[in-house]
Amino acid sequence: MPDRGLPRAAGSLGSGTLTGRARAALPGDVGPSQQETVRLDVDALTEFFARHGRDLPWRRPEASAWAVLVSEVMLQQTPVARVRPVYTDWVRRWPTPAALVAAPVGDAVRAWGRLGYPRRALRLHEAARAIVQRHDGAVPRDLHALLALPGIGDYTARAVAAFAFGERHPVVDTNVRRVISRAVRGIDEHLPASAADRAELESLLPADPALAVITCAALMEVGALRCTVANPDCAHCPLAGTCAWRAAGYPPGPERRRPAQRWHGTDRQVRGEIMAVLRAAATPLDRTRLRAGTASYAKSPDQWERCLASLVSDGLAVRDRRGRFALP
Ligand code: ADE
Repeated sequence: MPDRGLPRAAGSLGSGTLTGRARAALPGDVGPSQQETVRLDVDALTEFFARHGRDLPWRRPEASAWAVLVSEVMLQQTPVARVRPVYTDWVRRWPTPAALVAAPVGDAVRAWGRLGYPRRALRLHEAARAIVQRHDGAVPRDLHALLALPGIGDYTARAVAAFAFGERHPVVDTNVRRVISRAVRGIDEHLPASAADRAELESLLPADPALAVITCAALMEVGALRCTVANPDCAHCPLAGTCAWRAAGYPPGPERRRPAQRWHGTDRQVRGEIMAVLRAAATPLDRTRLRAGTASYAKSPDQWERCLASLVSDGLAVRDRRGRFALP
């Protein structure tokens, strides 16, 4: 079997059984008397992860806690394939929080490239500064210290504590939430992860921290590779034998509120276009040159001006005394 990383947690991949409340919230299941116990085979999950888990750079033994933190911030709202090259360049260039702090924040924004939601680059720079100031430059292991870092939320803090340090925490992103919802609760429901979901996974995880970490990673992988939103591949899913949703005959869940698909013409698109011009510029640009470099100005000048102003107020762009714009 190929080594799929997570070495800090992978000391013992012993077998065990994940037990949980099954189908407790299925339509028609009204009370505790009708609760069943789902047995999720941790052996199957760990075997699946070892065989099919993707060989991602942040899972490799050489990935530091800082590298894991960087990857988790980048992976928020951005697919693995887009993150991988930016992550690789980033951790090579700034292998420690101190190295990032020593760089101007504009370099971080430039290196963020086209990952989107570039405020994450600012937050990462701020988090690095806090790590240097509060923790002597070492990413903290403690969940509360992680949660206190700028830009590090409930998911990211637990992901770092688990994947970088082998701590036992319920790591619930939208993929894991979907898997738990289907396999354990029997409901095809698509909602952002909540504290209740974390509490549920916490109660399901094996007691052994190393095994709990592998279980979280495996659930994440099942969600990404098998139990997808639109095309669940139950024939090749390690949870198929115990899945409450499958056992119930795949009942449809509540109607999904689909996110708007439109991208062109949104503020995000206009901001992205302005940022792309600023990233490519070797020197500050006056308004005329900045406008000329972006197709969106001609289409909607008011929106364009609003977006430029929002970039400045977010700290992603700065305006100098001569009214020219540049990265910070
Ligand atoms: N491995 C660890 N964290 C991950 C994430 N957020 N997405 C994909 N793979 C991961």
